[in-house]
Parts: sequence; structure tokens; C-alpha cells
Amino acid sequence: MSLMGILDRLSDVATFDKAIEPARRAVRDGLPQGVKDLLHGTWLGHPLHPVLVQVPVGSWVSAGLLDAVPRLRPAATVLIGTGVAAAVPAALSGAADWSEQEVGVRRLGAVHALANTVALGLYVGSLVARGRGRDGLGRVLAYAGLGVAGGSAAVGGHMSYAQSSGASHAVTAARALSTDWLDLGPLDDLPEGRPALRPGKGASVDVPLAVVRRGTRVDVMVGACSHLSGPLYEGSVEQVRGSDCLVCPWHGSAFDLDNGAPRRGPAANPQEKLEVRMEAGRVMARLPGRHE
Ligand code: FES
Repeated sequence: MSLMGILDRLSDVATFDKAIEPARRAVRDGLPQGVKDLLHGTWLGHPLHPVLVQVPVGSWVSAGLLDAVPRLRPAATVLIGTGVAAAVPAALSGAADWSEQEVGVRRLGAVHALANTVALGLYVGSLVARGRGRDGLGRVLAYAGLGVAGGSAAVGGHMSYAQSSGASHAVTAARALSTDWLDLGPLDDLPEGRPALRPGKGASVDVPLAVVRRGTRVDVMVGACSHLSGPLYEGSVEQVRGSDCLVCPWHGSAFDLDNGAPRRGPAANPQEKLEVRMEAGRVMARLPGRHE
């Protein structure tokens, strides 16, 4: 079985759910919403975890190279310390994201977190050994940490690229949409102030769209939430942080109706928004930027 097959199998193992779920609930329910949004990267419009992990990964890989050259070893120690310090915010942002993922990703995420904790412990041990003049042991522990962190990065990559955690599910859904103007029916058929489901013509299948009417104004977003494809057309319109937002019914992410920007997480990616025009009392919409 391939490594990827093993990781997929691990996602199906429910044995440790009894330990994983309380930890997940503690993160999800224990952190204030503002802190979670900071950690998700909602304010940035991009997941924060992959940005933050650059520092420990880059520091530790560089330290591994410097440790191979005797006169550069003091610099390696500095980089290991930098990586240890930077691992803390990276772990916090990863934990916040993990707490709002689907169950298979949560199981693999627990493996990722466990491996990262072991790697961090090895690097802390390396710093302690170096501080006590046991440089040889310090290098052994650091290289062991690098190996474990590398394996953990492969697990994290599988979660991102094979399981689509952190990816924008709205962008994926939007790819199937026709590039033509889409007729979404009469304005008068739309309810006031709450989303309605309208089919968006796709190349092979229809793509659900969430259509919100407020007076004569109509906003149209792709109906699959950028976080995990939740049905935005079953959500609600609410004021969030001073903006009128479409709120996802699954995990409460809020997207600004003006521009699709996330105003509340767990979503960090924006929501795909269509441009709209009226034609003889009918709502016409299309994705911008795909028609040149
Ligand atoms: S699917 Fe999670 S907030 Fe929409």
C-alpha cells in the first residue's frame, strides 16, 4: 500500500475518537471567536497556518544544513531556537483550523499534531543538550526532530492537497460554472432579505447559487461555502462586524455580501461572488474575470 493509501486508511480509524473529540471541542468552544478568527486567517482572507509554518520549517531545515559545518554550528542553535518559538503560533493556528474540519481530517490532524509535538520536544531537547555542552547529542536530537517534522509535513500536505482542508471549496465549485450570463429568473420571485437557491448552469452539471435580494439589490454567491461546501443558500443574512453578511448554516462563517470577504470564520478564504445585472425584470449573473 502506498504512503498516501496508509494516510487515507488512518482517516477511517475511529479508535482514538474518544480522545480526539474532547480535545477538538476544547479548542473549538474554549477560544473566543475573535482569537479563532485571528488564528484562522479570516482577517487576512487566506489561511494563516501555511503562512506561519514557514518559519519553523525554514529555520529547522536551515539549522540542519548549518549543523553539518562545524564553524557554523552556533548559528544553527540560533535557528533551532527560532523554530521552537515560531512553532507555538503555528501550532495554535493549526489547532483552530483542525477543530472545524470534518472527521477524517481531524483524525489525520491528530497524527500531524502528535508528530509535531514529538519534533518540538526533540528540538527543545537539542537546545538543552547544546546548552550543557553536549553538542553531539544536540545534533542527533535536532536531526531526529527534522526527520519527524518532515514526516509530519507530509501528513499536513496530504490533509491540504488530498483532503482539501484549507482549500476554497467555493473556487472548486465555481470552476464548473458556465462563463455565460446566467438567467436566474424574475426578481419578483426572490424572497426579501434571505438567501434563495438558484441553479447556475454548468458545463456538465448545475452549480448551486445563493441569491440574496434586498429591495432592488441582488447579490449572488456560489452556493457551496468556501470552508467545507456548506449550503449557503440555506443560511441567513446577518450583520457581522458592521457588514451585511451571508452566514453559513454549518459552522457560522460569514461572508460580506458586498465582496464575498470572510468577516467571521472558520472560513479564511473569500466566497466566490458573481456580478449581477437586470434584464427585463430578470436577474442575470456571471462570474467576473473569466470572460476575456
Ligand atoms: S461549511 Fe463550514 S462554515 Fe460553511
